[in-house]
Amino acid sequence: MITPLPDESLILETDRLRLLPFSPADADIAHRLLEDPEVMRYVGDPITAQEVEDHMANATRRGAGGRIGIWCVIRKDTGEKIGDCVLTPLPIESDQVDWDQLTPDSYPSDEIEVGYLLVPAAWGQGFATELCARLLRFAFEETTLPRITAVTDPDNANSQHVLQKCGLRSTGPRRAYAEDNCSGFEITREEWVARFGNAA
Ligand SMILES: CC(C)(COP(=O)(O)OP(=O)(O)OC[C@H]1O[C@@H](n2cnc3c(N)ncnc32)[C@H](O)[C@@H]1OP(=O)(O)O)[C@@H](O)C(=O)NCCC(=O)NCCS
Repeated sequence: MITPLPDESLILETDRLRLLPFSPADADIAHRLLEDPEVMRYVGDPITAQEVEDHMANATRRGAGGRIGIWCVIRKDTGEKIGDCVLTPLPIESDQVDWDQLTPDSYPSDEIEVGYLLVPAAWGQGFATELCARLLRFAFEETTLPRITAVTDPDNANSQHVLQKCGLRSTGPRRAYAEDNCSGFEITREEWVARFGNAA
């Protein structure tokens, strides 16, 4: 049995950003992200508007008492939605997340990955690093997960840089999303506590 986190504990704040659990009202940012070839360049083929609509039921699911799922990324200064970010089960032999693992009373059996998509206008301002660091803090303070994983396209240098700034270590090429040559990253609970655990 996992104690559910109250809704307010799932709202994650940083200096410049507010991360809110994804809701049906966030279909607008999902369309902007998932249909944009520039955003999806290293992630996969852009999907259609209908596929985005179909995805919203899964995008708003939460697992482990609310702790696992997708968040909408909002700039505090303008109130604008600029992206999404995730703590979600990492698929290995499938190219799709197994959303059925998001159930209230248990942690997913798959590894949990951290991920993010920002609209291009929000790149180059440190927002990805800020939100990724916050998700890691949430993961290690509010869940019992032993490690957080990430995978990128081997050529996605910007994302790899974000992960390394947030303390994730390269684990080399690995299989994920039914592909052999993903670039793997991870950080264990012990590594995070040693590096960031005492930070304000
Ligand atoms: C991957 C992605 C999120 C990276 O975003 P990003 O904006 O490059 O990442 P950062 O948050 O690290 O910001 C980059 C730069 O902003 C600059 N910056 C400007 N103002 C800053 C501030 N106030 N604080 C920190 N950095 C700031 C920094 O110089 C930083 O680069 P540096 O660390 O080399 O100095 C973005 O490219 C993206 O959404 N791509 C499409 C989706 C994608 O590929 N997602 C990842 C899938 S694995």
